[in-house]
Amino acid sequence: MTEDVVVHKGLEGIYVTESSLSYIDGLAGKVYVRGYDLTELAMKSSYEEVAYLLIYGKLPNKREYYNWVEAISKNYGIEEGMKKILREIPRWNSPLDVLKYSLLTIGLWDKEQNRLDKDALYDKIVNILGKTPTILAAWYRISNDLDIIEPRDDLNYAANFLYMVRGEHVEEDAKALDTDLILHIEHGMNASAFAGLVTISTLSDIYSAVTSAINTLKGPLHGGAAGAALKQFREIGSPENAEKYVEEKLSRKERIMGFGHRVYKTYDPRAKVLKEMLMKMDLKGEAKNLFEIALRVEEICMERLCKTKRICPNVDFYAGILYVHLGFPIEYGPAIFALSRIGGWIAHILEYLESPRLIRPRHKYVGPIGLKYVPLEERE
Ligand code: CMC
Repeated sequence: MTEDVVVHKGLEGIYVTESSLSYIDGLAGKVYVRGYDLTELAMKSSYEEVAYLLIYGKLPNKREYYNWVEAISKNYGIEEGMKKILREIPRWNSPLDVLKYSLLTIGLWDKEQNRLDKDALYDKIVNILGKTPTILAAWYRISNDLDIIEPRDDLNYAANFLYMVRGEHVEEDAKALDTDLILHIEHGMNASAFAGLVTISTLSDIYSAVTSAINTLKGPLHGGAAGAALKQFREIGSPENAEKYVEEKLSRKERIMGFGHRVYKTYDPRAKVLKEMLMKMDLKGEAKNLFEIALRVEEICMERLCKTKRICPNVDFYAGILYVHLGFPIEYGPAIFALSRIGGWIAHILEYLESPRLIRPRHKYVGPIGLKYVPLEERE
């Protein structure tokens, strides 16, 4: 017996909600956040300001901006209990796994974690935004046998994170990371944002909803592409090897990592910003070599893939090189993605809560019905 219904595997082409958070024009290669060109925001704004824009629907005035930044930075500190837990976690875990468990755990310190009214949510949002960088930086230090560095509330989200990781503040690096975080903050109804909505649609709590989003980001089909692109540049080794590598990959029908996108059918505008930024930076050592390899791969693939098949560079093509320049091992890629996307997830969750409806799709049943139950003792 089968029902006469159409199944939309992967929900492809299904619109699950209305949203005024972002719009991607995949043919023109444009992405807008609350109507503003994301690439302009990446160059001129700050992570906190874009998070405010997403969450509150408008750019803050000066007073609103400073209050918001202060509220987040007041929450930078994490409880001693949280540090103790982090110290006990086996070192083999990935930064993203540590982050996902930790975010759920900080909810345990929030006596009112189940409240979903506006006043309570404000405290939870700044709590989550404030503590996420601190947790990730603390894990970096612990897993490298280094002392945890306490946050500096005079530094912004990106700068403070880098300071807690490295123990020094370098303005150019902090600005570069800020730009990268803005570029990754929001990108429509992707799998992780949807997972957050499914959880909040049951009127669960915001810590759970954000954690559902992180769990979903974890998969290599979503959050792992920057690392995969980096791995590919390392395999290539030097720009002279790029052509042979690409030709061999394509002849085996394998993919060039950091190329192609479900929505963009032209150069991803976020990749353009990252590329131009890296061009201007004083890259050294491995980051410099990887960037030269990436430029050569891009040159070849623009002809082989982009101009002919509309498979063009995406944001992950260059992001990993920035992380190498900043001193992060490859496995930090997805966690830094989460550090950014958390602002977008929160905005999606709050937007959905304005008019919530339980997300409850159906499956088309294709199994048998009416089977006769045989008691265990009578079965062969
Ligand atoms: N290199 C070579 N060929 C490719 C590539 C690529 N990177 N991407 C797609 N193709 C080919 C694919 O082999 C297929 O060819 P054919 O029709 O001959 O079988 C055709 O293009 C369509 O592929 P698809 O997987 O159906 O297309 P899609 O729109 O679902 O793919 C994608 C999107 C991102 C999964 C894919 O382009 C891909 O796997 N890219 C490499 C991984 C990557 O860079 N992912 C990061 C995505 S951006 C993340 C973000 O926005 O946050």
